[in-house]
Amino acid sequence: MKYLNLLPSLLLAILLTGCEKTNKVRENIKEKIVRESYRPTFHFTPQEKWMNDPNGLVYDKGYYHLFYQYYPDSTVWGPMHWGHAKSKDLLKWEHLPIALYPDSLGYIFSGSAVIDKTNTAGFGEGAMVAIFTYHDPVGEKEGSILFQTQGIAYSLDDGITWTKYDGNPVISNPGIRDFRDPKVFWNVDRETWQMALVAKDHVQFYESPNLKDWEKLSDFRFEDTEELGVWECPDLFEMTVEETGDNKWVLIVSHGAGAPNGGSGTRYFVGDYDGTTFSTNQKSSQWIDFGTDNYAGVTYNNTPDGRRIFIGWMSNWAYAITTPTIKWRSAMILPRELELVGSDGQYALKTPLVKEFEDILKTVNSEDLGGNPPLSFNYPELQQSKISFEITTLKSFKIILSNDSDEEYFINYDHENAKFLIDRSNSGLVNFSPKFTNPSPQIMPVGELKEIQLDMVLDASSIEIVLNNGSYVVTNQIFPSEPYTNFEIQGVDKNEIANFRLHKVLKAVSTN
Ligand code: FRU
Repeated sequence: MKYLNLLPSLLLAILLTGCEKTNKVRENIKEKIVRESYRPTFHFTPQEKWMNDPNGLVYDKGYYHLFYQYYPDSTVWGPMHWGHAKSKDLLKWEHLPIALYPDSLGYIFSGSAVIDKTNTAGFGEGAMVAIFTYHDPVGEKEGSILFQTQGIAYSLDDGITWTKYDGNPVISNPGIRDFRDPKVFWNVDRETWQMALVAKDHVQFYESPNLKDWEKLSDFRFEDTEELGVWECPDLFEMTVEETGDNKWVLIVSHGAGAPNGGSGTRYFVGDYDGTTFSTNQKSSQWIDFGTDNYAGVTYNNTPDGRRIFIGWMSNWAYAITTPTIKWRSAMILPRELELVGSDGQYALKTPLVKEFEDILKTVNSEDLGGNPPLSFNYPELQQSKISFEITTLKSFKIILSNDSDEEYFINYDHENAKFLIDRSNSGLVNFSPKFTNPSPQIMPVGELKEIQLDMVLDASSIEIVLNNGSYVVTNQIFPSEPYTNFEIQGVDKNEIANFRLHKVLKAVSTN
């Protein structure tokens, strides 16, 4: 259906037969159709051009605001702006004008936003205040290492128009090359603003009564045994462990390189924060997502009911600028709602999809698919669907998602070795970057599972695999040359599958 508007051009090309030139035209049109079909229908994408990190995630007056790293002049990274959209349900996004433009202090890099309810900054009661990194390209070119500083701007009309603070920068560079991505939150215990900021290979914490004057509180470092890229996009927040009622603090950090399955990825630490210092007795890295395409994720400020909603950029710096789309480049992951589980010093985040997603699902009668549950089926709209089931016997199995051009995406569960192996090496277009398929397979260690409940969400050019309600998650981009329509599971019998459901996911595309 979504190819319909391109049909006339295709027909024209088919009619003009005979010469090499026509064949070329036909090939080009086909290529265009395929690449435009990579546009997701229920994940956020910019209307056009380049996007990376989510920024300024803040809820206000019934809307989730999503700002994002945006370059309006190209589909590759360039001078950064903050794009803007808002949504009532985290799924249908309304595109809004660009919020922040580069100025004489530099490009507008990643950061956060708060609602200044009591007018601590003096910009106005309820002002939306953005706290971001200025990246000065001139300073960088001249060889200075002081080119990243922190600035603020405010909006009194729900994020539509913005005024930069004339006292910027509010935090100058202390002599650290990578010094960025401020996440500001209101610390309810201390009744003050606090900030997590990354500084090359550690996190720094700051405090301010008014968002303008910042004082450094402490540093957090971690003895890494593995080689990880520069620290980016931190977040710090308190969570209650449901089973035990314990309160713990979670520190999120993204790394430009060195993630378990190659390139960039996001990890977290669970520990304690006394209002000035964060500490953890965690011994090794814990990762938010074992796929390749969930980066720079942070959580919303000011949500109703204190929900901890997380959005990441669905790409990877290892190949982000080469993914095969034409008009726009890259999407956000489906928003997830974080939960903290565990006890006795052993904690883990679960990242299920937000419950709002259930509202755009339409059940497909599985009898029509060839049995309930079907071990294999063909469904024309598989790439706009959610497939869910439980495997009731703990044993190895294999899932294959494929199209009629022999392109396939595999999910293998190796019970003996307690790991999932995910392979996109023959998933479609892959050779736009050698890093897209390295490593193959991607490996997700899962420890000893007590149950297996799987949700798989496909949307045009992505797959999100959610195991056991978010205990383990894999997010991957894929670029099949025609949509996947075939599903098959091997290694289990029908009576070992419970609660099989196939849902079509309704379009939740942006409203303008
Ligand atoms: C993370 C990041 C941030 C930076 C932004 C620049 O993807 O590198 O550290 O602020 O992107 O676009």
